[in-house]
Amino acid sequence: MEKNIVVVGSMNQDIIMKIARMPDLGESMMVDECILAAGGKGCNQAVQASKLGANVSMVGAVGKDAMGDFLLSEAEKYHVNISNVRKTNVATGMGDAHVLPDGSLFCTVVKGANFELKTEDVDQAEVLLRKANIVILQNEIPEEVDYYVIDKAREWGYKIIYNAAPAREMKRQYIAKCDIVVVNEVEAGFYCGITIDDVEKAKTEALKLCREMGNDWIFTLGAAGSVVTSGEKAIFIPSYKVKAVESLGAGDSYIGALSYALLSGMSLFEGCRFATSCSALTVMSYGAQPAMPTLEEVEEFRTYPSIRDS
Ligand code: RIB
Repeated sequence: MEKNIVVVGSMNQDIIMKIARMPDLGESMMVDECILAAGGKGCNQAVQASKLGANVSMVGAVGKDAMGDFLLSEAEKYHVNISNVRKTNVATGMGDAHVLPDGSLFCTVVKGANFELKTEDVDQAEVLLRKANIVILQNEIPEEVDYYVIDKAREWGYKIIYNAAPAREMKRQYIAKCDIVVVNEVEAGFYCGITIDDVEKAKTEALKLCREMGNDWIFTLGAAGSVVTSGEKAIFIPSYKVKAVESLGAGDSYIGALSYALLSGMSLFEGCRFATSCSALTVMSYGAQPAMPTLEEVEEFRTYPSIRDS
């Protein structure tokens, strides 16, 4: 099967700061080390799918600034087609991530040029989108662009993986038109209206959304693993126990890998197991895109899982 993937989404300059603890309110805290890397949920997902071997194109927007140039050159380095990324007069979007010693993090995102993306940019990419087998969307672009891409799916003939992140109010009838919806536990709580703090609750709530919307739902649960639901079936896929240094982009790695896996003929559940391996490797080094594995690296990891302890 052809593996043509188009990501309509964000591109951010990530600033990753390693901190020993959360600062107190009103406190200015010194940071010993800071890493600059290419990010943005959309571009991260594109890069992961491309690193695995899919044909991936990005539809997005960056500023006419050094950060935008950097993001474009990084995406090209990973063989993502950037011919439909527009340069705007608004500065490039940014991700500001603070990473704690156990690898967990909190992140704030500057919308920047990502929110200059318009439905006209989607029309400009019609040729690419008509060739796409899968289109990936997230919430770091204007909601009308998400709705437009969802509306065009049947006419232009692609499936949609919708990463409904960061959580925001979206019309349920549009979410229901997406084939697969992926959220983390915090976002799942927002869409379910209930805190998701254990696997059984995740299964129950994901199944409710599955039945309500008639599509597949995946809840990623950080270091615990993920819950994958389809029809009346809900399974829990545990994560690998690895030495995590930083989890930025782990969910994006999962989504990019899942899109590749589905186009390689894997079932949803097999694809999610494959995606779990990819995100395990992603958390083992810094930066979202630089840390994402190639197909060879994933295959080696799955064949010789002991390397996870090295
Ligand atoms: O999912 C991780 C990404 O979220 C980061 O790369 C950051 O830019 C934000 O978009």
